[in-house]
Amino acid sequence: MSLAQRRILLGVSGGIAAYKSCELVRRLRDLGAEVRVVMTEGATHFVSATTFQALSGQPVRMSLWDAEAEAAMGHIELARWAERILIAPASADLIARLAHGFANDLLTTVCLASAAPVYLAPAMNQQMWAHPAVQANIDTLRQRGVHLLGPASGDQACGDIGSGRMLEPMELREAMVASFGNLVLRGLKVVVSAGPTYEDIDPVRFIGNRSSGRMGFAVAEAAAQAGAEVTLVAGPVSLSTPPGVRRRVDVRSAAQMRDAVVDAAAQADIYIAAAAVGDYRPAEVADYKLKKQAGAPLELRLSENPDILATLAAQTVRPFLVGFAAETHDVERYARDKLQRKGLDMIAANQVGGGLGFEAADNALTLYWADGVADLSRASKTDLAHQLVAKVAERYRTVRG
Ligand code: PMT
Repeated sequence: MSLAQRRILLGVSGGIAAYKSCELVRRLRDLGAEVRVVMTEGATHFVSATTFQALSGQPVRMSLWDAEAEAAMGHIELARWAERILIAPASADLIARLAHGFANDLLTTVCLASAAPVYLAPAMNQQMWAHPAVQANIDTLRQRGVHLLGPASGDQACGDIGSGRMLEPMELREAMVASFGNLVLRGLKVVVSAGPTYEDIDPVRFIGNRSSGRMGFAVAEAAAQAGAEVTLVAGPVSLSTPPGVRRRVDVRSAAQMRDAVVDAAAQADIYIAAAAVGDYRPAEVADYKLKKQAGAPLELRLSENPDILATLAAQTVRPFLVGFAAETHDVERYARDKLQRKGLDMIAANQVGGGLGFEAADNALTLYWADGVADLSRASKTDLAHQLVAKVAERYRTVRG
């Protein structure tokens, strides 16, 4: 594990957990990170700037209006300097100000002015954490791509027990290491499918589904960040190619997706099938627009589509196969059945509905493989994709060496 020369801006807001952030600075620096600390006014009531200055070896910034500090490194320069912004502890007040785009102190201003990914480690009383206002602000931030680290549950400084404890410094450090990509897939070729398929009925109509492609695109991006050479086979979606993805092949129907995936998978080590592939297509495609027959039902005959995963599973030399299963009920039973029936190495099951699965920004996955299971609880598709990629890499190394 290394954070050598990584530039981490640590934001500290007001909360008793601020004392743990002193330890965090040391642990980040142990791995070679450069750490600069920005404190809110509230934070200074818990820990002194001198402590952070001694531990980080850098001046600590607290105010937008400090002419001397601005002359040394202005707030815009500081925002550009940061490769990651980690806010630990993130208080309810700070979370609210970030959610609403405030720039009323140095830390919130730097967050607005920086392109660096922001990681929040909330810390507050369990009742505050559960409050709908806090949860709404968290949802807003997550949808904007802010990464949430914790909170954990347990005993709290105020005597309560529940969710709202800041993660431990070592857990936060691990998250920072993971955020820079652990290159767990370095040297491997990965194919990812994403989005829906469209099966034409006539020149103006088709059978499709609600997949937006967000889950698959997040997986492709996470795999690229983990060092893989990624080919993304995308159904009809309106998403731009994630950074780092080597090749993108756009397709429309299940048959086109099968051809593109089989072609790319011939060289691949891993295939991750996040696409929602149509099981059926119209048996005949009309080459003219079908006309409405008033009062008479229209009957469409459907033929079964090729199963892409099963096609690959039947090959003697085949990539490590990861399927997805989106189900409305009996998720585990259907997922385990697909794992076995399609001859997969792993399956990622998601329950659809309730703001999860298709189209949504968030998801929750349970991973099943022959002799194991792992729950990835509700998070943004970006965060889940990183967790999924880490697990796929671990299983791949176990099975394929
Ligand atoms: O795109 P989003 O809006 O972000 O939504 C994400 C998602 C819900 C679509 C995604 O997380 C997901 O679950 N994808 C799989 C959807 C699904 O229901 O798959 P399935 O149960 O029809 O198929 C199971 C597996 O077999 C899938 O990996 C699928 O890619 C694969 N399959 C299916 C049919 C087929 N003909 N060939 C296949 O390879």
